[in-house]
Amino acid sequence: MKVLVVGNGGREHALAAKLLQSDRVTQVYCTPGNGGTATLSGCQNLPYSVDDFARIGQAVVENRINLVVVGPELPLSLGIKDYLAKFDLPVFGPNQQGAQLEASKSWAKDLMISAGIPTATSETFTEVEPAIAYLNQQTAPIVVKADGLAAGKGVIVAQTLEEAENAVKSLFNEGFPKLIIEEFLVGQEVSVLAITDGITIVPLLPAQDHKQIGEGDTGANTGGMGAFCPTPLANSAMMDRIEREVLQPTLTALQQKGIDYRGIIYAGLMITPEGEPKVLEYNCRFGDPETQAVLALLETPLDEVILACCQQKLRELPPLKWHSGSAVCVVMAAGGYPSSYTKGKVITGLDLAEKTGAVVFHAGTKLVGDNLITDGGRVLGVTGVGSTFEEAIALSYRAVGQIHFEDMYYRRDIGHRVQGKS
Ligand code: AMP
Ligand code: GLY
Repeated sequence: MKVLVVGNGGREHALAAKLLQSDRVTQVYCTPGNGGTATLSGCQNLPYSVDDFARIGQAVVENRINLVVVGPELPLSLGIKDYLAKFDLPVFGPNQQGAQLEASKSWAKDLMISAGIPTATSETFTEVEPAIAYLNQQTAPIVVKADGLAAGKGVIVAQTLEEAENAVKSLFNEGFPKLIIEEFLVGQEVSVLAITDGITIVPLLPAQDHKQIGEGDTGANTGGMGAFCPTPLANSAMMDRIEREVLQPTLTALQQKGIDYRGIIYAGLMITPEGEPKVLEYNCRFGDPETQAVLALLETPLDEVILACCQQKLRELPPLKWHSGSAVCVVMAAGGYPSSYTKGKVITGLDLAEKTGAVVFHAGTKLVGDNLITDGGRVLGVTGVGSTFEEAIALSYRAVGQIHFEDMYYRRDIGHRVQGKS
């Protein structure tokens, strides 16, 4: 089977590597891919950007692709699944209607409210004045969210009402037609990714993401500085609740709207101090870097799971098999990220890092001649698997210690929440 993976991050490198572990997968193409997928044995990069559907369609035909796996939200929200329907092959990921779960926060909010799914109270606005009038009746902290896809930059957790007001003005100025003002929730965040074929929904192991740039979870939000899986915060009783109160009702609500959703539903949840799971947001795809940690523990061949999903046969699939230990992924970033940073630094030590037994997935790298160079803010994800969290943490940091590029930055406390250090 030949698989085309769409995207160019650590998630796509992890997906490509996992797919290639299956005997049935003979070749993976990744478009546009990165330095990691370029050097992965059995994988070849194609040069088409994720929203160039015509070229991607041509590549499907020319390379006799049997399965397309879509990584990022952008092509899903632009309707890549709908576009590729004419090629009559399985495409993993929801159609454009389904992708609204992530692409429109107000649409997702309406769905949650009508289905009684626990979430923060909120109001949606299309104009500045009513939004500010509403803000003046609230207390800070408060959260302002842009309605459309904003590449991780559309959520402002405002500590003061003034900050919230500025966020409202600047989001409307940037051209977002709608925004949401939402109650600030406290607690611990959990990422629960579930796979659904539109009939059955199967949760994967719960993960936690370290979103902030600084150690001790401080500073600016990023795409994710590290992740670990499973998280003890979502034990089996909590996972039962999340399935019953969030995942199943989400699927039922999608069905009632007539949406045939096949792919990942990622529920970003806040577990409140009272132990209530509340949805912060949905994503319509695998999370990154969570996926690097989650897939490291998956023992059922990924192609089997994905095909069962595309063919609406998840019900017939035996329960997913998982490694009984833990996985920890440490992200190595370019100094300055998530603000400005430079690209083009030579990366060394990857072979030594892999010799430790950890795996290194590339997020922002490029192969130039024989040199692997940095090509993004998040550069690498280094994942260690161990029979305990401590082992997994030690292994990933041992591997991180072998890698070098100028101005590199990584957090030294990934997994600290599990260890109870904070
Ligand atoms: P998102 O880009 O939607 O994942 O949101 C980014 C981050 O903002 C989340 O991971 C949370 O840390 C934070 N956040 C979003 N909504 C809320 C909320 N209602 N209360 C507190 N924090 C939130
Ligand atoms: N790690 C968060 C995300 O993938 O959206």
